[in-house]
Amino acid sequence: MHTSTKLFALIALLLGGSAIVANSDVHLPGNHQGYEPVQPIAYSHRLHAGEIGIDCLYCHYGAARSRHAGIPSGRICMNCHSVVTDSFDNLVEERQRAAAAGEQPKRTISPELRKLYDYMGLDKDLKPASSPQPIPWVRVHHLPDFAFFDHSTHVAKGVACQTCHGPIQGMERVRQEKSLSMGWCISCHRQSIPTPTCVAPEGEPSHVSTDCVSCHL
Ligand code: HEC
Ligand code: HEC
Ligand code: HEC
Ligand code: HEC
Ligand code: HEC
Repeated sequence: MHTSTKLFALIALLLGGSAIVANSDVHLPGNHQGYEPVQPIAYSHRLHAGEIGIDCLYCHYGAARSRHAGIPSGRICMNCHSVVTDSFDNLVEERQRAAAAGEQPKRTISPELRKLYDYMGLDKDLKPASSPQPIPWVRVHHLPDFAFFDHSTHVAKGVACQTCHGPIQGMERVRQEKSLSMGWCISCHRQSIPTPTCVAPEGEPSHVSTDCVSCHL
């Protein structure tokens, strides 16, 4: 009773009596299919998750354990970028130059990685010089607060990241591939069976809940 009262209030508030619920592909502000914001560092999923092949959960480990997938802190980047300070091509070129000249290779730093080191508070020798700042990544996907979504329950059932986010491992810059509209959520719930093997247990409904209160608490 309590939850449906809240839901009713929500609907009244949102619709002011009109009939948007029937047209569930209507979008709310802040949720934009195709949104592809420029990020503070030109971090590439195509390079890291595609070419290098780093697992999504190495950086977004929250997706398997909690509601939010989470954005990794700069410290995770530094696991590699304390050593890899430039593109592979530039690092190799500097090594060859140094070898030919009989010198030690000099450290070269790419402009994009310099931005990472600035946020990490590291100077030109990569020594701590000021306090680290969080990287101000621009959020791409965003559901309104009144819609409840939990990554871990979906990931545990084997729904692939790409089903909801598209081919991220091919994107230079992340874009919102799907509508994330209510109709989109519900059409998968109508088709899905809540077991990993896709066989509904005896006597269980053969689809995932489409009750209003499962997504609107
Ligand atoms: C090396 C770390 C790393 C790996 C590996 C990685 N990501 Fe990301 N991901 C990031 C960072 C940093 C951002 C924030 C900047 C951006 O949007 O590009 C991000 C952003 C995202 C976003 C957008 C979040 C938002 O703002 O709405 C999605 C979706 C995403 N990643 C999915 C994936 C998937 C799927 C994979 C595997 C195919 C993956 N990521 C692999 C670091 C990583
Ligand atoms: C069933 C659909 C679905 C699946 C599967 C899914 N996501 Fe998401 N993801 C979403 C939705 C919806 C949002 C927006 C959530 C919000 O605004 O509360 C989101 C947001 C994100 C974000 C940014 C906000 C946050 O939660 O930190 C990242 C990063 C992300 N997803 C990564 C991933 C990765 C990596 C995987 C696979 C391990 C994955 N997602 C699987 C639907 C999905
Ligand atoms: C597992 C190791 C690894 C992790 C973790 C990692 N990177 Fe990288 N990254 C690389 C490698 C290797 C290259 C160089 C690839 C090449 O040039 O072919 C690279 C290249 C880059 C470049 C391009 C450099 C240039 O100018 O050419 C940027 C920018 C970058 N990474 C940012 C990040 C950020 C931001 C994070 C954390 C969210 C991150 N990386 C995490 C391994 C990693
Ligand atoms: C590609 C298929 C798919 C899409 C898209 C999808 N879901 Fe689900 N959802 C599932 C499956 C499968 C389950 C069953 C999980 C279980 O039984 O534990 C589920 C379960 C749920 C649950 C109940 C379990 C929990 O997490 O509390 C909620 C709430 C939910 N989904 C919300 C959403 C919302 C909101 C969206 C859209 C933003 C969405 N889902 C999109 C497949 C999907
Ligand atoms: C599987 C999850 C899910 C279920 C079940 C669900 N909704 Fe939604 N609903 C959403 C999401 C996600 C949004 C936000 C869509 C957006 O941002 O475009 C939403 C948005 C809404 C809105 C705002 C207007 C609109 O259409 O976008 C209303 C009103 C609403 N839902 C009412 C309901 C009612 C009433 C029910 C039961 C008949 C219901 N919802 C069932 C996920 C769900």
